[in-house]
Amino acid sequence: MSNTISIKKYDIERANKYDNDSTVNQGNRDVHVEFLDHVLEFFIENNIINTPYSLLELGCGTGFFSKIILKKFPKMHAYLVDGSKSMIKIANKNLHKMLERITFINNDFNHINLEKFNNSIDLVFSALAIHHLNQNDKTALLNKIYNCMNKSSLFILYDLHNTDSELSNNLLEFIACKQIQKKTYKKLDLSFQIEELEINNLIKKDREIKCAENDQETTIKYHTDMLCTLGFQNITVFYQEHRFFGLVAQKI
Ligand SMILES: C[S@@+](CC[C@H](N)C(=O)[O-])C[C@H]1O[C@@H](n2cnc3c(N)ncnc32)[C@H](O)[C@@H]1O
Repeated sequence: MSNTISIKKYDIERANKYDNDSTVNQGNRDVHVEFLDHVLEFFIENNIINTPYSLLELGCGTGFFSKIILKKFPKMHAYLVDGSKSMIKIANKNLHKMLERITFINNDFNHINLEKFNNSIDLVFSALAIHHLNQNDKTALLNKIYNCMNKSSLFILYDLHNTDSELSNNLLEFIACKQIQKKTYKKLDLSFQIEELEINNLIKKDREIKCAENDQETTIKYHTDMLCTLGFQNITVFYQEHRFFGLVAQKI
């Protein structure tokens, strides 16, 4: 078992609850899916990239995005990486109709060897996983990603970001927690207020979770600068929703 804190936190108890919890605490998943679709449609319909046949996903979790991408491209084979055995177990269940098109890779991003994919991957995708790495490890992973992509392929990233200002970070946190509060009340169909869902209690809990998972967000600028340094082009931030962002970058 990996000693990396962010992997250990995705144990079987968390994995079993993940899909349900993510409807309230992982931003607007419907819009994330919609924008992912728009980005792929733009690049394919304009003949900027070919229909992708291979996918490398980093931090596939329960396979939420993997399923959507594999359904969109029926001839695609996916290499799904995640450090947590428990999350992969749930992904196995969620993707049971597509298992012949999937190779699971249960490994830590910091130890994974992507050299075998040398310039062969058509699409690299990652959602809400890379922010668990520190800046050096993130850079090393992004470099490995670049090297395994073929020419004209895309890297699409959804992740958490922060800013250089404490006040701005507090504002993004506040909005994120207000959204969690609103969605939780709606989901529980509660017409009265409960202490657990008071905004200051939600913020406290949110901080505890992020600290326990060793979240290490960086700025959007850090991401775009780093991708540019590594050789990526057409780097486009196509989505922002409080502390979530989405970007696409191309290897040419
Ligand atoms: C917030 S979940 C996101 C899952 C999925 N991408 C989604 O959006 O539903 C983060 C995932 O990253 C994985 N992860 C975290 N740190 C990792 C690391 N160092 N190496 C490999 N996987 C890691 C966790 O096991 C977890 O499944």
